[in-house]
Amino acid sequence: MIHFNSETRTFNLLLRSSYYAFQVDADGRLIHLGWGPRPQDASGEDQISGKPVFEPYNIPWSFITQFRPDEVLTFGEITSFYPTLKVSFPGLPVPLKEGESPHLPLRDLRLRYAGYEIVTGAKPGLAPAHGLPVRELSPRETLRVRLQDPLQSLYVTLCYRLDPEHDIIERWCELENAGQQPVSFDICCFASLHLPNGTNELTSVSGTWAREFTPQRQRLSQGVQMMESRNLQTGHNSNPFFMLNRPGQAWEESGVVYFGALAYSGAWQIALEQLPTLDIRLHAGYHPFDFQLDLAPGERHVTPALVIGVSLQGWGGASRRLHDFVRRHVLPCPPQDAQWRPVLYNSWEATYFNLSFENQVELARKAASIGVELFCVDDGWFGARRSDTAGLGDWVVSPDVFPGGLELLVDEVHRLGMQFGLWVEPEMVNPDSDLYRLHPDWVLHFPGRPRTTARNQLILDFGRTEVVEHIFSLLDALVERYSIAFFKWDMNRLATEPGSVAGKAIWRRHVEGVYRIMDRLRQQHPGLDIQTCSGGGGRIDLGMFGRTDQAWVSDNTDAFDRVRIQEGFSLAYPACCMEAWVTHEKNHITQRVTPLNLRFDVAMRGALGIGSSLNELSQAELAEYASFIQFYKMIRPVVQAGELYRLERLEEFDASVIEYVLPDGSEAVYSEVLRDHQVGVFRPAALLKGLQSRLVYMVLDRSNTEVYRATGYELMVQGIPPAMLDYPGYSRTLYLRAVQ
Ligand code: GLA
Repeated sequence: MIHFNSETRTFNLLLRSSYYAFQVDADGRLIHLGWGPRPQDASGEDQISGKPVFEPYNIPWSFITQFRPDEVLTFGEITSFYPTLKVSFPGLPVPLKEGESPHLPLRDLRLRYAGYEIVTGAKPGLAPAHGLPVRELSPRETLRVRLQDPLQSLYVTLCYRLDPEHDIIERWCELENAGQQPVSFDICCFASLHLPNGTNELTSVSGTWAREFTPQRQRLSQGVQMMESRNLQTGHNSNPFFMLNRPGQAWEESGVVYFGALAYSGAWQIALEQLPTLDIRLHAGYHPFDFQLDLAPGERHVTPALVIGVSLQGWGGASRRLHDFVRRHVLPCPPQDAQWRPVLYNSWEATYFNLSFENQVELARKAASIGVELFCVDDGWFGARRSDTAGLGDWVVSPDVFPGGLELLVDEVHRLGMQFGLWVEPEMVNPDSDLYRLHPDWVLHFPGRPRTTARNQLILDFGRTEVVEHIFSLLDALVERYSIAFFKWDMNRLATEPGSVAGKAIWRRHVEGVYRIMDRLRQQHPGLDIQTCSGGGGRIDLGMFGRTDQAWVSDNTDAFDRVRIQEGFSLAYPACCMEAWVTHEKNHITQRVTPLNLRFDVAMRGALGIGSSLNELSQAELAEYASFIQFYKMIRPVVQAGELYRLERLEEFDASVIEYVLPDGSEAVYSEVLRDHQVGVFRPAALLKGLQSRLVYMVLDRSNTEVYRATGYELMVQGIPPAMLDYPGYSRTLYLRAVQ
């Protein structure tokens, strides 16, 4: 519900258990009043009336503008702290008085209230344009508050789209140059937030290739701390989401936690700023390094969204709100879509670049026999791509690999009852490729300067519309010709020498180009699914999930490492889009040997995939794989649609115990993995959540054997008896079903 009190000029946004409020002050500025939980007994009538809460009794008056909690902080009036917007105007709005000098460019933006409207159907910038529905279709209210610079003809509209059920607000801003001269934005955040004083404990993730999504918790100190990507993609080093709470006031399942995530897949920045007053501000949006956003007279720009929310159930509650929001409002949901993510087989680790029709057919037959539903051929099927030194950019099936054409394999995969998928890396080109020989100017570079290759490849210039068009046509033709149901869309390098026909705007234009191709492909082929991958988990965010169905979280499939990576991923993103493979006994990256049940127990926590070399497995081993996959299909609806509880996180006992439970509490999955165990240290039994106290639950293992039976009450009060065999690598997955 959105309320406006015209007497006090106060806006109250009321969500299920939280509120967000701001007020128009006497000068027409928007002043933030508060954001946080509402008392449990509050009704729609209970609102903030706009009594002054900003009492700067301890701040010398001369500093006041710098500390005032404006909803949108603009450079000019504010210089000491980080702004939401910093704008350069090349010209003066008024004629100079005699003797005055121009001091151009003018870098002062004032925004004053010009009106509001409440609409449904408003969308942030770069919202998916594929036309596919999302699961939850009911319209969402958006408050649009229009602000205007009193001197320059620049309008800024702050947008707040409400999802009351999840206590989530999507925030973005619309910029409109109604003047006669161009306007440049030096800093452009999608939104700034003001958090309650002292909310300075940050939960986030960091990492690198093969170590993505490492959870971390730290205290902010005075000043600005950056989370960022200076890349054309979201990046491995950090992921654009955060959770903030007052230290010692929030835990996994209790306490107030503020959270947020960006719906953008390029160079981004989240600046976390602790003021000397201990007030916390957060500014999230485009990364301002090498940034360019110019609006010509009459032009508009709508920023993507920053999704924010409040949880009253700790970090776990924040994750569950985000997961459900992603499942219902973000992920595309084609009408004919299967309800669950299919069990996938990917041939990368089995054959690498040594693809042949014969080895792929053999893999496909074995994959089908163990219950795989989607067969994906990875890198190496096209052009001269017999290694990573050549062929990228030439998206034509290689006759050396498939002398009879790819159709023969596709037909066989379909005959076996599976869908067919292909790996692509559309933004890239090897210098040793037909595409590059034909169009050497189609890559990012600065003329006359060296072009740095990484993994022997260069990046196509998506600032050129003809390049975007060319890539779309090739992919479109592939889907059409080979009935492709799935693309694993990869992007394997970071940018260097970012020279483009689009100038510095390339950082945004690249993302727009990728989104445009994906959206068009999905529009033309509603049956096509896409997996986002960027050298593992380098491009995962809410912008990507608007047009992809799942993510490749890391190239590291070692169950010991993966369980931590997945815990980090689970902070923000749901299990249904977390592709997780079972691979070889001896891991190809870490060389660690792990038992099959551990590999399955970890991979079954997400959308299950298989990457092992099936052609080298015995019949007995294949049968074991089949029995795990059969079990997974039984628990899949709970894993992929259930609510996640992290009953025990790795930080304490190096054990991860999680539970997925259906919202009605009728079914649950209990998954326990020990990364390490010290003899003589006893772990407490993990207490289950979300069950119904009065119901009796059967607890089944993989062979469908009932290993335990208890009431929901007992399971939530006493837990499942801990395993008697605690050792590093111990794991089990149990399925709980209510019987009465
Ligand atoms: C990247 C991906 C891998 C694989 C290779 C193929 O590294 O993350 O899964 O697809 O590319 O070259």
